[in-house]
Amino acid sequence: ASSVPARIEEKRRAALLGGGPRRIEAQHRRGKLTARERILLLLDPDSFDEYDMFVEHRCSDFGMDADENKYFGDSVVTGRGRINGRLAYVFSQDFTVFGGSLSGAHAQKICKIMDQAALVGAPVIGLNDSGGARIQEGVESLAGYADIFLRNVLCSGVVPQISLIMGPCAGGAVYSPALTDFTFMVKDTSYLFITGPDVVKSVTNEDVTQEQLGGAKTHTAISGVAHRAFENDIDALLNLREFFNYLPLSNRDPAPVCECHDSSDRLVPELETVVPMESTKAYDMLDIIHAIVDEREFFEIMPFYARNIVVGFARMNGRTVGIVGNQPKVASGWALGLWCLDINSSVKGARFVRFCDAFNIPLITFVDVPGFLPGTSQEYGGIIRHGAKLLFAFAEATVPKITIITRKAYGGAYDVMSSKHLRGDANYAWPTAEVAVMGAKGAVQIIFRGKQTDAEAEYVNKFANPFPAAMRGFVDDIIQPSTTRKRICHDLDVLASKAQSTPWKKHANIPL
Ligand code: COA
Repeated sequence: ASSVPARIEEKRRAALLGGGPRRIEAQHRRGKLTARERILLLLDPDSFDEYDMFVEHRCSDFGMDADENKYFGDSVVTGRGRINGRLAYVFSQDFTVFGGSLSGAHAQKICKIMDQAALVGAPVIGLNDSGGARIQEGVESLAGYADIFLRNVLCSGVVPQISLIMGPCAGGAVYSPALTDFTFMVKDTSYLFITGPDVVKSVTNEDVTQEQLGGAKTHTAISGVAHRAFENDIDALLNLREFFNYLPLSNRDPAPVCECHDSSDRLVPELETVVPMESTKAYDMLDIIHAIVDEREFFEIMPFYARNIVVGFARMNGRTVGIVGNQPKVASGWALGLWCLDINSSVKGARFVRFCDAFNIPLITFVDVPGFLPGTSQEYGGIIRHGAKLLFAFAEATVPKITIITRKAYGGAYDVMSSKHLRGDANYAWPTAEVAVMGAKGAVQIIFRGKQTDAEAEYVNKFANPFPAAMRGFVDDIIQPSTTRKRICHDLDVLASKAQSTPWKKHANIPL
């Protein structure tokens, strides 16, 4: 019999091979990296400390107790490591072992690192590539999912949780990513759905491919389930490393501050002309965001979903900030509805604002919004309850909140978009700002029923400018657009010591 050290080495070598060379080759043929290759790319060199390499599944049904059906570590690799020197806990499902399917042991390994992450206060990153519940294990596997879901919920708002979908993720498995803060996908090789195309066909008689039902395009543009999609495994993992740099390690941590080579006093002259003279003409809010933030670097979240609102992370003087902006560019010509707040943009914005608030990330909001989108489809869809989410999220947020009205701030949407009234810390208007209940045409029709011809000019004169809001202190100042970066950086310095509390409660009841 071999010595203990030799046996340890032998088991280690076996564990490193997962499901074996044939299945590793098959994984590569699918255009996917293995669980371990992914971890190596995600983490800093030599920083990975693995847990539970010798854990085996405990199933004895269906011949599962035979030696050839046991794999050291089972179907997931777990541990901790560093991303640019900062601690992260990681699990990476190994598709080469029973299709990465979730056994009781697999779930237990994931739960262990989630518990550790919560204890020390570090993010959890899940690399998902799994055929779902381990069919041979039945309810043991379902219990495992629930154990993970519970931890996802308990960790929510405590440590950032990120899911990267790098293969199949179906059935109950989808709910762990759905509970995490961010879900990213790999194009062409990953999909998420509750039930696959065959079940869909038998229940609803729809013909649909896996890609159409739950591919990256579907979830980043139509369903809003995923926040970003990347070209391949390498691209996704490198982007995840970059994304990680924006995040605090936990809710006890301040947002990270990086060394900054972009002066906080930098003036941005191009902003003086970015808003068109005609108040109904489109421009790109991203131009404003890029020009103001450090080094023009903006990590956009959900760029292809609800494009009438832009959300994402950037830095100001090295400090992570969350940016929210209405996007007039989606309007083609003068189409009032198109850049209004609607159901999807409200939900997208609200979830982002709540993440930032939970993790001490200051919010910078750029406002140009003609109101909430009118129409039966929005009303029947519950725009009232969904719009309320964004309102709720901004109102409850206690992080530093800085708001810049670049042009329109009409109606209820003015209140919602991080207004002074919702505890905004610094609220500014550009000279092009218009704060009013509605546009001049509609207003005059209602007040005068079209009788008075010069009323429209009077209304424009009175409301289509920043003074009514500035006179009442609802904006703190009317600023030259070129000075916006400087103002925000200085405000963030001052607001770094902001402390604000809300009345005691078990938890709030955000309208869902
Ligand atoms: N439980 C146990 N083993 C599983 C499994 C599961 N849920 N899903 C996949 N496997 C195994 C397969 O038996 C196969 O084993 P092998 O390497 O010994 O041949 C291996 O994982 C790879 O699966 P395979 O079907 O060859 O890969 P694929 O890329 O063609 O298909 C899936 C991937 C996920 C679409 C397919 O495996 C599948 O439909 N799995 C079942 C999904 C499911 O219904 N899960 C339960 C509901 S949550």
